[in-house]
Amino acid sequence: MYNIEIENLTKRYKNCVAALDHVSLMVGSGVYGLLGHNGAGKTTLMKALVTVLEPSGGSIRVCGFDTKKQGNDVRKLIGYLPQELAMYPSLTAFDFVSYMAELKGIYHKNAVYAALEQVEMLEFAKRKIGQLSGGMKRRIGIAQALVGSPQVLVVDEPTAGLDPEERVRFRGVLSRFAKDGKTVILSTHIVEDVYQACEELAVLRKGGLLYTGTSAGLMKQVEGKIKSIKLEYEEDLVDLQKKAVVISTTYESAGLTARIMDENMVFTEAEPVPATLEDAYVYFMGGKAHA
Ligand SMILES: Nc1ncnc2c1ncn2[C@@H]1O[C@H](COP(=O)(O)OP(=O)(O)OP(=O)(O)O)[C@@H](O)[C@H]1O
Ligand SMILES: [Mg+2]
Repeated sequence: MYNIEIENLTKRYKNCVAALDHVSLMVGSGVYGLLGHNGAGKTTLMKALVTVLEPSGGSIRVCGFDTKKQGNDVRKLIGYLPQELAMYPSLTAFDFVSYMAELKGIYHKNAVYAALEQVEMLEFAKRKIGQLSGGMKRRIGIAQALVGSPQVLVVDEPTAGLDPEERVRFRGVLSRFAKDGKTVILSTHIVEDVYQACEELAVLRKGGLLYTGTSAGLMKQVEGKIKSIKLEYEEDLVDLQKKAVVISTTYESAGLTARIMDENMVFTEAEPVPATLEDAYVYFMGGKAHA
């Protein structure tokens, strides 16, 4: 059973940009990653999913409800953390989350406390939003999405700008939430977050889907073809780029090392190195030069 069924979703903005072009995606329970560069269409997809934005074509069903025809039912099932959430600095953390809960029709104080507890912010409940750190504000953002324990949680780039410890904490909150058949959709351009937190992922590029499946499945496609090559001069890089997709380069005191995807297996003398999800992602996005 899929919690989210997206079929042929297309969104054209007024300036004619096809932000999404016939995207079809089925999402079951667990944490699902939506990976893509700036402008790939992640936010557009999420906004259509939470009914903030009307698609130009296609359909979305959330737990069987159609976002166009049964918007109210869909909204009751969803918690949403927008990429940019406006918060009122003079409200306390508790009052802000209560206010957001009331907009959803949830009036129980206990639901607000439960959400604050899930993000470890109970002890700061009475503190004004304006006096919280960036990471704490983000936790309040997730708390307002968690209120009422929705079936589907949609979080748009929640880890951007967080320190490593806060990111680990965040992933923990999402993983704990995604039990019992619930779904979390997490958009990001941080490959590490997807690798650590998501069972499955979709890679979006310029409004189209490049890949859907597991991280392991994505890595398998480049396995044995990722190689590390030492170069003496930077000019050699131009030559190398003609023969292979350069994933990354590291500069050293003498020369540099390039990590490449040897698509055509022409670098037979070079040793393959273990592939990472980052390698696979950068390769599918067109390599370093286009990244
Ligand atoms: N309101 C809008 N009007 C016109 N074009 C828009 C609008 N919102 C987004 N776009 C365009 O749609 C495309 C997809 O944007 P979107 O915000 O969905 O990408 P994104 O993957 O979320 O990017 P980011 O990682 O920067 O948040 C981009 O080309 C963007 O310029
Ligand atoms: Mg976005």
